[in-house]
Amino acid sequence: MNLKDLNVISIQDDSFIAEICLLYLFTDRKKEFQGILSKLKIASDGSGKLTLRDILEISSESLKDWTPQTTGDLPCHFLRKVMALNGTARSTNLVQKTPNHQGCSEEGQIAGFDIFSLADINASDSLHPLDVLCAVLLCSDTFLQQEILSKMSMCQFALPLLLPALDPSKCTLTLWAVRDIVRKWRPHSLAQSRGFREESLVLMSMPTISFVRLGSCSFSKSKLLNEVLSPSQQHHDFFIHRDMESGNVPREIADGLVEISWYFPAGRENSDLFPEPVVVTNLRGDIESHWLQFSFVTQVSSAVFIVTENIGEREYALLSSLQGSDIKYYFTLHCNSGKIKESLGFLNQLAPVLKLDKSHLLMRENTRSNAGFVSKLQSTIGSIRSSTSKIVNLEDLAVTARELGIQVDEDCEECQSARKCTEEITEEIKDVATYKRKTLRCQGDLWKRLVKVEKELCQMKWQGPTSIEDYKSEWKEKLWGLCRRQNQCDLTEGMAEFIKGIGHLFPNLSRLF
Ligand SMILES: *[C@@H]1O[C@H](CO)[C@@H](O)[C@H](O)[C@H]1NC(C)=O
Ligand SMILES: *[C@@H]1O[C@H](CO)[C@@H](O)[C@H](O)[C@H]1NC(C)=O
Repeated sequence: MNLKDLNVISIQDDSFIAEICLLYLFTDRKKEFQGILSKLKIASDGSGKLTLRDILEISSESLKDWTPQTTGDLPCHFLRKVMALNGTARSTNLVQKTPNHQGCSEEGQIAGFDIFSLADINASDSLHPLDVLCAVLLCSDTFLQQEILSKMSMCQFALPLLLPALDPSKCTLTLWAVRDIVRKWRPHSLAQSRGFREESLVLMSMPTISFVRLGSCSFSKSKLLNEVLSPSQQHHDFFIHRDMESGNVPREIADGLVEISWYFPAGRENSDLFPEPVVVTNLRGDIESHWLQFSFVTQVSSAVFIVTENIGEREYALLSSLQGSDIKYYFTLHCNSGKIKESLGFLNQLAPVLKLDKSHLLMRENTRSNAGFVSKLQSTIGSIRSSTSKIVNLEDLAVTARELGIQVDEDCEECQSARKCTEEITEEIKDVATYKRKTLRCQGDLWKRLVKVEKELCQMKWQGPTSIEDYKSEWKEKLWGLCRRQNQCDLTEGMAEFIKGIGHLFPNLSRLF
């Protein structure tokens, strides 16, 4: 079963075709990408993008339990599970079909073939969950992207902030995709009054702290981050990490992905990790091969944690080039790394260049438990949070992204023209209640009376001695009277603008008006 069988790829989309054309310019990337798309059985022939409608459609297929058996089942599994807010949505484990024992001879040989062969090693090949996520998002239209990210946020999954593109020098900031997410929390300043704050993720300004990796690393940065952000006694995997099932499958297209996650206090002064919200971003892959994304996270962050195991000549040269910025860099090193002496030597040379002091180095001991290191990180983040003056929201991030040549999803023509239409309407609104009364004339008072009449027609509470027939026709007359009055209302200007706007976005719909 795959997406194509569901007949979900239906709408022509020029930008998707353009993206596919770009593929031909970047052959390596193209191969990786097409490899993933073909494993996922998503059509890569430019025949269109997945739409929200495809996913919301209810059919016998959508009610089936989606246990993925092949990589081609993974997009459906992810989409169905995430829509159902199931915490296992990101899993890419394939359920093995029961092996077929027929044909095995007593010696354990199948007509001259070995039982154990190299071909079998890849037979159970799964995909990295982030590859599936990136591929599905890149093949989805903007409405579906928005829905996926809203649902992911409800599941407390980290969200993609910079989505890798087919062209490795390009990536996209997801601003529109998180536009409609609203979060509620209780900062400690409101703990006494039991008040809370509720704000759109896009407009919420707060300090940002980023985590990146330099070189290879024997432990998982994302797992560490989950420990840092999880409330005590309540571990949560915000980020996919390599010790999760399928988390150790090599990533093919998701390197360069920047994910974002938020910590929100619940107003419990002795168990909250931080008294106010904190944003954390996580760059996947080595900074050396994702310099654009790295530049982006450094420019928007109050502090950047560079997780590394070794700083040698090459790393030193790379890090020296960061000279002159005001960003605070923190390093986490491994005590038992064989090259610790060399690393410390280079770090000492970097200290004046990057304005480092003792607090900027966090040593990770070689113990099995991360507990001590995690609390050291938490207190460092806490002090960065309370001392920083750099407070940014996602719209500020979009400004930085544009300066660096990163695309912002909201800059696409559809979003811009929809926004213009909306602004033309909302510009007129001075007072919401007055505007509603004036513009939405069929609703308001007429609507309320209509509802009362409909209710009485069902409930027949005040029928009294009148016969059912007479009583019903009396009230039906009232109903038609109110409907006639609704029909007499002229189309107000705001309504006309709305219909024009929506008709422009959906040409097929305008025939209805
Ligand atoms: C989530 O999906 C898994 C795997 O299909 C299933 O076993 C589990 O019951 C689901 N959880 C909920 C809460 O529906
Ligand atoms: C297994 O997969 C790897 C990576 O995708 C590939 O390079 C290798 O040739 C495959 N091996 C076999 C036996 O198919």
